[in-house]
Amino acid sequence: MYVVFLGAPGAGKGTQAAEVAKELKLAHIATGDMFRDAQKKGTKLALEAKTYMDKGMLVPDEITIKMVLERISAPDCVKGVIFDGFPRNLAQAQALDKAMAEQSKAIDHVVYIKVSEEELLKRLGGRWICRQCQSPYHEVASPPKVKGKCDKCGGELYQRSDDVPATIKERLKVFFAQTAPLIDYYSKTGKLVEVNGEGGMDEIKQRILKAVGKKSPR
Ligand code: AP5
Repeated sequence: MYVVFLGAPGAGKGTQAAEVAKELKLAHIATGDMFRDAQKKGTKLALEAKTYMDKGMLVPDEITIKMVLERISAPDCVKGVIFDGFPRNLAQAQALDKAMAEQSKAIDHVVYIKVSEEELLKRLGGRWICRQCQSPYHEVASPPKVKGKCDKCGGELYQRSDDVPATIKERLKVFFAQTAPLIDYYSKTGKLVEVNGEGGMDEIKQRILKAVGKKSPR
């Protein structure tokens, strides 16, 4: 099963994609995480990507599309993928459709996780991320058991350099201008399903599983 998670910055795409991918045994492709991982290695392309990310802008399509198309040809993607943060504009959506069609595959569902702007701002302002495994935490909604340490791997928690008010504002602007048109694009394919992204994390996970036609075993 191939599923795209669409949503504004802070909508909970990363939080839900990790959980749903684990439950459905799908690969989880998160372009933001891939860029941040590459930055640890300090490659030229990753450093170029960082200049866009720090301004809240999209990384150029030629870098992003190439990175994702290479990633989806890996063996762990054969049974399915959750795309988190990709595609983010029309050119990326069309490139993904073309690449999937070349492998006789197609996107099965597009889950649009909808959250109010007020809630997005609260979430991004209080987010902490694990430097090692990129798991997200929130200082109020989902704090780690030990302050500053990841529950899953013990890694150090940090605040992303793009989670500052001016960059958050720009990221939201970019979402509404460049990514929101994909809601219409995927609506026309009949694959889009809108999910209320507010409420408890497990409650939202159940809504998503229902939206993709999979009920949780519980
Ligand atoms: P990316 O890393 O993809 O960031 P984003 O889309 O802005 O999304 P976020 O990671 O901020 O939010 P999320 O929806 O994953 O929310 P999360 O689960 O963390 O992209 C970063 C940058 O990389 C982009 O700006 C761009 O420059 C570049 N980039 C990436 N992909 C690209 C592409 N395809 N093309 C070009 N450039 C690209 O949750 C947020 C917080 O809320 C957390 O603290 C979490 O604990 C908390 N939370 C989650 N769910 C709940 C809940 N139900 N209740 C309360 N709190 C909750």
